[in-house]
Amino acid sequence: MDERERALARSFAGLDYEGFRALAGRADLSANERIGFPDSVRGGREAAILADIRAKLPALAEGAAPGLVVDIGPGAGPLAQALVAACRAQGHALWLLDSPEMLAALPEGPGLTKRAGRFPDGTGPLPELAGQADAVLCYSVLHYVFAGQPLVPFLDAALALLKPGGALLLGDLPNASMRRRFLAGAAGRAFHRAYTGRDEDPVLATHPATEGEMDDSVLLSLVTRARALGFDAWVLPQPPGLPMANRREDILVRRP
Ligand SMILES: C[S@@+](CC[C@H](N)C(=O)[O-])C[C@H]1O[C@@H](n2cnc3c(N)ncnc32)[C@H](O)[C@@H]1O
Repeated sequence: MDERERALARSFAGLDYEGFRALAGRADLSANERIGFPDSVRGGREAAILADIRAKLPALAEGAAPGLVVDIGPGAGPLAQALVAACRAQGHALWLLDSPEMLAALPEGPGLTKRAGRFPDGTGPLPELAGQADAVLCYSVLHYVFAGQPLVPFLDAALALLKPGGALLLGDLPNASMRRRFLAGAAGRAFHRAYTGRDEDPVLATHPATEGEMDDSVLLSLVTRARALGFDAWVLPQPPGLPMANRREDILVRRP
């Protein structure tokens, strides 16, 4: 990561839904940067990410029957383009829920429906989707929701889209507890040296305040909430090849 990317990465740290709206139209940024990712982190990784998503969401597996797929916060980068192509090839109806600016940057196409607005409060009622979705994807979005919206109504509204047997993937969730566990080990200390360019170990507090950051307590409470509402739910690891697998994980929820 060069100096320009480091500065960009720092500016991405405080993003929320409104911040992404402004980013979507920036002509000076690359497609990945317009959705909040430095190219050195996300560039060329969309095939591996989509393969992991398809391994976790049964409706997106190779050869699955056509159904209804909803992507909450697809952005307009290479991963969104790859998902659109995969759903088209499978004959899925795909709904994309994001800001007008993000959705405008994605092409129209058969089987594709765009609904602009902040989910769930800005999208209006979605009667076409309630209890209908085979798969709901929300990838690399939840930490921005955590920063600017109440998480429980967001989760409840996403769960309400699932049909029996349908599954929700809350993917690519930064977990401050997991990051601390990683940084405390030899691999994490080496990673820290390479990232900072300084020959020093990371300073790790024993009981850190993680205000504004999701940690074990947040992720596990989402699992508990989903289970309390009658869904099966699990925290899953990411395969080691994904860009931030050492400090991010996924939550998979399935409606029985
Ligand atoms: C980091 S980007 C991820 C894009 C895409 N899922 C990916 O992984 O390539 C986060 C996206 O979530 C969208 N977003 C954030 N909060 C949202 C909300 N409440 N409803 C809909 N979209 C939201 C942003 O506009 C942005 O496009």
